[in-house]
Amino acid sequence: MANRVVIGSQWGDEGKAKIVDFLTLDADVIVRFQGGANAGHTVEVGDQKFVFHLIPSGIMHDNKVCVIGNGVVLDPIQTLAEIEDLHQKGITPEGRLFIADNAHVVLPYHSALDKAKEKKAGKAAIGTTGRGIGPCYSDKVNRIGVRVGDLLDEKELRPRVEAMAKVHNDEFVAMYNEAPIDSEVVIRDYLELGNKIRAFVCDVSDLLHKALKAGKRLIFEGAQGTILDVDQGTYPYVTSSNTVAGYASCGAGVGPTALDQIVGVVKAYTTRVGNGPFPTELLDACGDNLRQIGNEYGATTGRNRRCGWFDAPVVRKAAMVNGLTHLAITKLDVLDTFDSIKICTAYKCDGEILDLIPNQLSKVGRCEPVYEEMPGWKQDTTACKSWGELPENAKNYLKRLAELVDVKIGMVSVGARRDQSIIIDME
Ligand code: GDP
Ligand code: IMO
Ligand code: MG
Repeated sequence: MANRVVIGSQWGDEGKAKIVDFLTLDADVIVRFQGGANAGHTVEVGDQKFVFHLIPSGIMHDNKVCVIGNGVVLDPIQTLAEIEDLHQKGITPEGRLFIADNAHVVLPYHSALDKAKEKKAGKAAIGTTGRGIGPCYSDKVNRIGVRVGDLLDEKELRPRVEAMAKVHNDEFVAMYNEAPIDSEVVIRDYLELGNKIRAFVCDVSDLLHKALKAGKRLIFEGAQGTILDVDQGTYPYVTSSNTVAGYASCGAGVGPTALDQIVGVVKAYTTRVGNGPFPTELLDACGDNLRQIGNEYGATTGRNRRCGWFDAPVVRKAAMVNGLTHLAITKLDVLDTFDSIKICTAYKCDGEILDLIPNQLSKVGRCEPVYEEMPGWKQDTTACKSWGELPENAKNYLKRLAELVDVKIGMVSVGARRDQSIIIDME
């Protein structure tokens, strides 16, 4: 059985967690490899609903091992809150949740800086989740970060926090007119948090290497989406990590030869939270309709998600930069009541026809979608269990999406629950 990387192929919230939860039936180890608590991953099983920000979505299954890799930026407070929530739902992560000792820690400096920067940027704000993601990754690359392993030993933690505090407290005062944060309080609090997560911390790369050697099946759970990738997305309106499949290797500490299938999760339409260009956005009643039927409100911040038609130039780019082997098309059911459905097949931009979303931000802003229209199916798909049970027009719509982006359909999702999943071809 293949190891699978499951990534978002649009602007996030494609339903990755639902797909990961379903594919976990077939796997042993589930690994988050980038991002942080900016992610909001919703899993519905029976009448239980869970939104994960840091813990891999596979944790809902008994006996599966879940791993937070070195590429993640870890907020220990959020991690402990999620562990507590799991306990309340009767799920025990102890003994099967592992956190990389070399993952970076989101500290109060980072969330304060994230918010202060956004406030100061005014209209030019990115629309971040305010979870401190950008500042934490900046400190990592700038080599002044704090890692999970440092939380376990005051001798390691103290000098690093003191050095970081010096940089950021000067910044708070001089640039943002904000109060400095007392490093003594941070050291005390984070040593305590370190003690609470101590039992979960290990060398994750070693653990995964042994799992691979033992023939265990891995799923790498992406966060955000390809067009939020810091290199491939609509920069600077992106997140601060690489969200693409290749980063599963870097962010988990396994070689790229461990990655077999690359499953691109796509909504049957498109959404985006936060600011930045969105060529197929619908600012009319149709967009409101998609939001309402699709319940498109952010799982992390509760913000309205912006909604629009399926955008092939976006998903083509995702197919290319991730090397997608399969599509998992979600939320097909949201289109059940539409009379007709538009698909953006290409963009018109500066007198040219473009097949791919361009890298240059101003150019994306000038892209006008070229649409084709397909008839809706006007039938409830939420109980469909196989390709054969789907309405003819729904099948035609799905086939057209796959044809436009030149990737085969592996799975289709027709509802939030685990059993509302149709396997097409996951070979
Ligand atoms: P993620 O961040 O990619 O994991 O996605 P989110 O959890 O942020 O958002 C996806 C939302 O759609 C969640 O509320 C899911 O429960 C829900 N969902 C997932 N798949 C389907 C589907 O096929 N149909 C419907 N109606 N909802 C779905
Ligand atoms: P999941 O994993 C959708 C967006 C934010 C903002 C930009 C930068 O649930 O798909 P950040 O806080 O990362 O610095 O914000 O990225 N964003 C997401 N949008 N889904 C997510 O995660 C997101 N994580 C970040 O809205 O536009
Ligand atoms: Mg989400």
